[in-house]
Amino acid sequence: MSRVYKPTEHVVNKSWVPSLQRYKDMYKKSIDDPEAFWSKIASEFHWEIPYQPGKFVSYNFDVDKGDIFIKWMEGAVTNVCYNLLDRNVRSGHGEKIAYYWAGNHPDDYSRISYRTLLDMVCQFANALRSHGVKKGDRVSIYMPMILETVVCMLACARIGAIHSVVFAGFSPDSLAERMSDCKAKVLITSDGAWRGEKLLTLKKTCDEALEIAKKNHNHKVDMCIVVAHLKRVTPCGPMPDIDTLYEWNDGVDVWWHDIIEDQSTMCQPEWMGAEDPLFMLYTSGSTGKPKGVLHTTGGYLLYATATFRYVFDYRPLDTYWCTADVGWITGHTYVVYAPLANRATSVMFEGTPFYPDNTRYWSLIEKYKITQFYTAPTAIRSLMKFGEESVKKHNLSSLRILGSVGEPINPEAWLWYYNIIGNGRCSISDTFWQTETGGHVLTSLPGATPMKPGAAGYPFFGVQPILLDENGAVIEGEGEGYLVFSKPWPGIMRTLFGDHSRYESVYFSKFKGYYCTGDGARRDEDGFLWVTGRIDDMLNVSGHLMSTAEVEGVLTEEPRVSEAAVVSKPHPVKGESLYCFVILNEGATFDANLVASLKKLVRNRIGAFAAPDVIQYAPGLPKTRSGKIMRRILRKIAIGDKNIGDTSTLADPSVVEELFKNRP
Ligand code: PRX
Repeated sequence: MSRVYKPTEHVVNKSWVPSLQRYKDMYKKSIDDPEAFWSKIASEFHWEIPYQPGKFVSYNFDVDKGDIFIKWMEGAVTNVCYNLLDRNVRSGHGEKIAYYWAGNHPDDYSRISYRTLLDMVCQFANALRSHGVKKGDRVSIYMPMILETVVCMLACARIGAIHSVVFAGFSPDSLAERMSDCKAKVLITSDGAWRGEKLLTLKKTCDEALEIAKKNHNHKVDMCIVVAHLKRVTPCGPMPDIDTLYEWNDGVDVWWHDIIEDQSTMCQPEWMGAEDPLFMLYTSGSTGKPKGVLHTTGGYLLYATATFRYVFDYRPLDTYWCTADVGWITGHTYVVYAPLANRATSVMFEGTPFYPDNTRYWSLIEKYKITQFYTAPTAIRSLMKFGEESVKKHNLSSLRILGSVGEPINPEAWLWYYNIIGNGRCSISDTFWQTETGGHVLTSLPGATPMKPGAAGYPFFGVQPILLDENGAVIEGEGEGYLVFSKPWPGIMRTLFGDHSRYESVYFSKFKGYYCTGDGARRDEDGFLWVTGRIDDMLNVSGHLMSTAEVEGVLTEEPRVSEAAVVSKPHPVKGESLYCFVILNEGATFDANLVASLKKLVRNRIGAFAAPDVIQYAPGLPKTRSGKIMRRILRKIAIGDKNIGDTSTLADPSVVEELFKNRP
């Protein structure tokens, strides 16, 4: 039984949904009458042609009944950029700060108002238009966390071009593959950027990617627009001569500052149908080929707006900070679109939590008096290692809401976040969602729902989660199974770019009539939903279904362990057995005593059937550049099979060798 944490007065006083009953009433309304619920949010925005009452949503989730489709407010016409910027400036809020930008180096910072952001977006949108970019064209963006990144995304939205941001940690091959798949006309990048003490040579990566795209994929990008960023920031390490960092290709490369020069700050928006594409974003697929998840205009705008408002309880004087990179969906929805749609003031941070030292997050929270802080469990765990002393030196009393995203948060990390960062008075919104869902789908609501450490909590408005067993039968009440949805919410993706049949087969074919998340979930005796991890990470030991996350949560409760990853190893009697990798906190030693106490802990916390067979010391874990553990590789290590396949997305390949060496 987990302890239940109730929202404190500190949170409830400023909450949009200040009680559990209010949440239940609003939730019921959102399910019974989606049009009444969502049209209220829609009415806050400008519609060049309003939606037709009675035709708010139509969809088909059943492949047997025809093509899968999802449409919200079809026929309505608007422009997302207009609603994020012009609408706020025209209503007298032009001077409000849209972003405080914090550079990698603490001496580098700036701010931008809604009005200035609008001016910059219009200038850049005009520049794109004057170079022939038009509605429906694809624009790839390979950028650091700088304000121009927001500008180019919104400029695309303004002229109806579809942006495809590629996280600026991907290799030239990956960038080339993504640019070619969507046939991008333009690529936007910067000369480089600092991340900690590391110099990222982004333009060089783009040069290589453009070559690979031509050679291997027969795709030529017309223009590469380059922001001169390095010259204006403080070097954080040895700085080579900038001109040696990349080639300049006349005819393809243009400087950002050159093409916006002389461009007007007025730019007529392209009026877009509610179901016209807004952006695409690649996410990894189990077959290896990335999937171009496509989001559209109207529904995404409503959903981003509503989730941000209710999940973070944003209020006009708040300063919100999401640490995610714009290269991921969290950065799209909760660094760019949702905060601006809510006329929020946000912090955009270029650097890392460890530069110049591991208190950077806490000093930024103090400096900007952050009210909502949204980060990932992996960041929390990596900072927990340094103890609470360094946190305590900072004044974090401005905080009201703490968000978590990206993976299940283990109770140990949750409690540290709650007690040490939130000082026991902030609510934690553990937000479960996916690139595909566009915004949060399961989460607690800060002032309304009680919290259990590690539980994602409740469905967001309009979202109806269902648990299915292996045979597709619905699990009512308590139980664990496949997490699926039987109907759409406004922010769900509409297709995979250029491959609707893959969309249908990946998401709608496993269980007919349902969108399948690929995650498992458990509903407990109080109706809380616990996301248990990807289905592929589910384990079945002696007929007991359990998730890797569940066991990992227990292992990290041991004070000597900082991070754990559990995979399944085939077992002749039990079917599968647990093979566990543990990273230790500084100063801890790995010995028989630790192994014994970990095994005992798991037995005690979950049951004898869950006792791990192997516990291996891990100096590090094989992770993708986005920080996701590559369990596929861990499974190979567990069985001692050196044939580990494609490792191109691995951030640090040397970790794998170490792990093979350390096998017990
Ligand atoms: O497995 C779930 C996990 O991350 C997956 C989605 O990854 P991505 O599309 O990269 O989006 C990440 C940011 C939204 C999900 O299928 N996941 C994400 N958030 C949580 C989570 N698992 C548990 N709890 C979460 N809060």
